[in-house]
Amino acid sequence: MNKNINMKTLINIAIVAIASVCMVSCFNDNKPNYQYFPNMYAPVGYEAYGSYNTEYFENGQEAMTPPPGTIPRGWQPYDYENTTAGLELARVELQNPLEINDENLAAGNQLYTIYCAVCHGDKGDGKGILAQREKFLGIPSYADPGRNITPGGIYHVEMYGLNSMGSYASQTNEKERWQIAMHVMNLKAALNGQPGLLGNPTDSTAVDSTKMAQPIVVDSTATANVERN
Ligand code: HEC
Repeated sequence: MNKNINMKTLINIAIVAIASVCMVSCFNDNKPNYQYFPNMYAPVGYEAYGSYNTEYFENGQEAMTPPPGTIPRGWQPYDYENTTAGLELARVELQNPLEINDENLAAGNQLYTIYCAVCHGDKGDGKGILAQREKFLGIPSYADPGRNITPGGIYHVEMYGLNSMGSYASQTNEKERWQIAMHVMNLKAALNGQPGLLGNPTDSTAVDSTKMAQPIVVDSTATANVERN
């Protein structure tokens, strides 16, 4: 009797031992494990950069360049050419479509400080920090009579850049470029001692900073989550 129980216990222990060895030994780190609901792992739809049959996708990849003549949402075609003649034409013809108000001027001021002031200076006198350090030469004052700075001309150089000044078309959208242009015209008036666009006595720093657009607050916990994924 006693012998029997010992035998049974031994057999049970052996079964458990063999079963656990089997379960552990067959796992290969380099291969995906069993997938119980494969659709949860492998996407059913096409992946943007996945490689697929060229029968369906010309370049074998789902992501494709837009057809010619396509206009992205929120983007307007800009018809003036990137030439001196194009700049001249924009200077004369192109008008700022935005309403002149505190909000647009404040937004323009803020964007100008971010993108332009390093070279052109906070007052638009061409004496930004990079000009003072002689990193860029020939930065004009907006009041330079020879330049004839107009809203259209400003917009044009924001789109294309001009010689050593780069284009800001990819960093700013259309509205932002016009807001910057509005602020630059205010700076020009201030440099010339003329009233600003809103008719106030000018001081190029007169834009009420409390009306500035609020900075975008990045939620650091959210960022951390994204990084973890
Ligand atoms: C890297 C320095 C730099 C930055 C940043 C910069 N500019 Fe310029 N900008 C220049 C230089 C240099 C010129 C003179 C180009 C020339 O005439 O060869 C110029 C010229 C101009 C002119 C005169 C164009 C004309 O009609 O003669 C305007 C207007 C202007 N910039 C606006 C801006 C605005 C608005 C921004 C910000 C979005 C900006 N710039 C950012 C360097 C800069």
